[in-house]
Amino acid sequence: MIVVIDGPAGSGKSSTARAVAANLQIQFLDSGALYRVATLLYIDAQQEFTTFFDKLKESEISFYFKNEKFHAFLDGQEVSDEIRSMKVSQHVSEVASNPKVRAYVNDLMREVVKHDAYIADGRDLGTAVFPDADLKFFMVADLETRARRRFKEEKDKGSNVTLEEVKQNIAQRDQTDANRSSDPLRKADDAIEVDTSEMSFDDQVAFISKKVEELISSQSK
Ligand code: CDP
Ligand code: CDP
Repeated sequence: MIVVIDGPAGSGKSSTARAVAANLQIQFLDSGALYRVATLLYIDAQQEFTTFFDKLKESEISFYFKNEKFHAFLDGQEVSDEIRSMKVSQHVSEVASNPKVRAYVNDLMREVVKHDAYIADGRDLGTAVFPDADLKFFMVADLETRARRRFKEEKDKGSNVTLEEVKQNIAQRDQTDANRSSDPLRKADDAIEVDTSEMSFDDQVAFISKKVEELISSQSK
């Protein structure tokens, strides 16, 4: 079983998917985290694509979901916190626009979902990666709300980034993600749209959990 949630940055996809996965005891896959790990290599390659691709070929990206946290590793080293830095956020959409990077990440994802039941979040999962997903959601919220949520996370981490910087980063990524030629951010025709601007976190988790539970029970009949 594969359930996908796509949508712009800060709409609540990964935290909702994580909670749903924990509630229903299924796996969670954070596709953005995989692009973020690749971005660490890009930064390490001084933002030069040829060197970056050499590094990507030689490196191993791995991950697992445990206790409601998605753990990401680069060559066996945990990088789960490092990939959330603003520096990574500033470069990730550029890296993710590259078709070769997308093919690499898509292969990783398609391989793992063969082995278990998953809920995954991203930008193009319902349209390009898993067009035959069992259930698709498209999560949205207005830019101001999304920026405030991300800003709160930054403050909780002790970062001194401003609300304006967070907002600009989100707006810039949305723009790049929605306008790239290779698998842009787009709602699949058969995705259920969930606007979380005015929704409580618990309500959005309950809404999606219910739909996934219905799917699980229909599949077990
Ligand atoms: O959590 P946040 O919304 O900040 O972003 P993310 O899910 O960690 O994704 C980071 C970036 O990876 C996005 O801005 C996209 O550029 C890229 N991405 C993508 O292109 N396709 C996906 N399926 C997931 C992420
Ligand atoms: O994955 P995506 O970029 O769409 O968003 P996220 O990483 O799940 O971040 C959303 C943040 O907003 C998290 O800190 C959530 O706890 C918070 N939030 C939410 O998702 N939904 C609400 N209704 C209220 C807050």
